[in-house]
Amino acid sequence: MKPPETMRWQGGIEGQLELLDQTLLPGQLQYLCCRDVQAVWDAIRVLSVRGAPAIGLAAAYGVCLGLQTAGDSTQQLRDQLKQDASQLASSRPTAVNLSWALERMQATGNACQLEGDAWREVLLAEARQIHQEDQQMCQQIGQHGASLLTTPTAVLTHCNAGGLATGGEGTALSVLFTAHQQGNLAEVFVGETRPLLQGARLTAWELTQRDIPTTLICDSMAGQVMREGKVQAVVTGADRIAANGDTANKIGTYSLALLARAHQLPFYVAAPSSTFDLALADGQGIPIEERDPAEVTHGFGQATAPQQVKVYNPAFDVTPAALIDAIITEQGIIQPVNQQTVAALLLGSG
Ligand code: MRU
Repeated sequence: MKPPETMRWQGGIEGQLELLDQTLLPGQLQYLCCRDVQAVWDAIRVLSVRGAPAIGLAAAYGVCLGLQTAGDSTQQLRDQLKQDASQLASSRPTAVNLSWALERMQATGNACQLEGDAWREVLLAEARQIHQEDQQMCQQIGQHGASLLTTPTAVLTHCNAGGLATGGEGTALSVLFTAHQQGNLAEVFVGETRPLLQGARLTAWELTQRDIPTTLICDSMAGQVMREGKVQAVVTGADRIAANGDTANKIGTYSLALLARAHQLPFYVAAPSSTFDLALADGQGIPIEERDPAEVTHGFGQATAPQQVKVYNPAFDVTPAALIDAIITEQGIIQPVNQQTVAALLLGSG
């Protein structure tokens, strides 16, 4: 069965963006219809659409919605795009794919000398192009990453870096889907990913839909699972990777990398080149989103902590490059991971 599309643009330049509402999964398969920029901003903010490549893609389509009510001169269209891009960029701070996609839309808009609907068509075509490239990128990551799993391997993953987090088959999960096709995936252990349960609700759903042997664990069980020899590798996605390979990903990833090192298990990150922020020398400068304390105290509507308790809720953490055995990109594998090897692959220099 073909998995449902994470997002789709319906119609031409007067069309709308439909997002598979991930806050309702796995219980309900329902599309959220966005007709203006604010609706896309809200959808990103509340995680109806989430995952680094997917929020970049949603934002690229989002600016096309804003253009529908803008004036027709090239300058009016460029001004509207600039304003909407700046609003959408403020929706979530950590994943760099968001500003990457918005900058690409703005560069296209600034280069285009047309006006009116012809200008809008060029921008919509660019958003569609980013979508198409994203699908290709996922496939390439899958191919490259699967070459690291050469015998039937049980893998631990965290959060959701699957089709739901991209416009294609995912990053970390694309590696696992490809390994599965090649007979080299014994089983996937999925950390539930507190507090919003992207692992339990989304990754376990994607894997079981494909009949891949899947075992769900609480995040705190990872050390015991490794100690019992139940997994032989860890593969996760990423939200922003600094020039030296330090990697921000869903909160809990850093702990998994430390545990993997302690148990001498390889720790792999899968991410496209649009997730790299080469302007940042290392992970210290990566902005870490802090979210509503209610996500921790009232998970899915149920009070699970006393009213007055103080809460700290960072949504991401940074794993130092030294704990990462390889970064799998669409352009190839970075291994070992350091400033020279990152530059060599992405810039063709050392
Ligand atoms: O808060 P989320 O669900 O957007 O966090 C997503 C992750 O941390 C993913 O691992 C990351 O974006 C990679 S998605 C291919």
